[in-house]
Amino acid sequence: MRRKLAAGNWKMNGLESALGEIDALAAAHKATQTEIMIAPPATLLSRMVAHAGDAVVLAGQDCHSEESGAHTGDISAAMLKDAGASYVILGHSERRTDHGETNDQVRAKTRAALAAGLKAVVCIGETLAQREAANTIDIIGGQMSGSLPDLATGENLVIAYEPVWAIGTGKIPTLDQIGEVHDFIRMRLERRYGAGVGRSVRILYGGSVKPDNAAEIFDVSNVDGALVGGASLKAKDFSSIISALDASAD
Ligand code: PGA
Repeated sequence: MRRKLAAGNWKMNGLESALGEIDALAAAHKATQTEIMIAPPATLLSRMVAHAGDAVVLAGQDCHSEESGAHTGDISAAMLKDAGASYVILGHSERRTDHGETNDQVRAKTRAALAAGLKAVVCIGETLAQREAANTIDIIGGQMSGSLPDLATGENLVIAYEPVWAIGTGKIPTLDQIGEVHDFIRMRLERRYGAGVGRSVRILYGGSVKPDNAAEIFDVSNVDGALVGGASLKAKDFSSIISALDASAD
């Protein structure tokens, strides 16, 4: 059984005053089966540790592919770990778009993250133009071949399928479209890593997941959780998404 994962991506949001949201989240989910992850901005990471307790695990939103060196403004995987992270999100579409990150770079970062003992949440997803041109499956396959490392396990790798056009827009694919892509990702994982590892890697859906659409998305086959942006900023909203995920595991 794959453990469900509710992952919150705060992006470039959150000052010290937002730490109370993590207190509320941790208090509400002391005994929740679902694994709860928050990726705060790097400035809050170490300060969030005491608030997260055992209920919430923390993540970076990106890391550099090298261990250290002359890379002004960048953060290494070891630094994230040192600050209290156990996960890192890599290849998010906003990184691919805003910073021109390529599949090769995402793969190098993923290797660095795993080598430093972090678990990687690798993001993939098609643009609207690619979906309209009926290229979704090809794009997803290409991103998987290019972005994923050769060595991975169900413990240290998570895939997040995030259609670029669904992020922050309030639009989501149909449930059939989500199922088609998640089943394809599962098949490709099994082919690349073997059935054991391929079946144990968790596949998250991301893009406009909200309290009112979470339950139906979590019923789709091979959806093992969600990567949530906007709705992870408030404990109340994220909490109802976590509860929907918990209920889907029953
Ligand atoms: P959203 O963002 O939930 O605000 O659409 C999702 C993401 O970018 O991970």
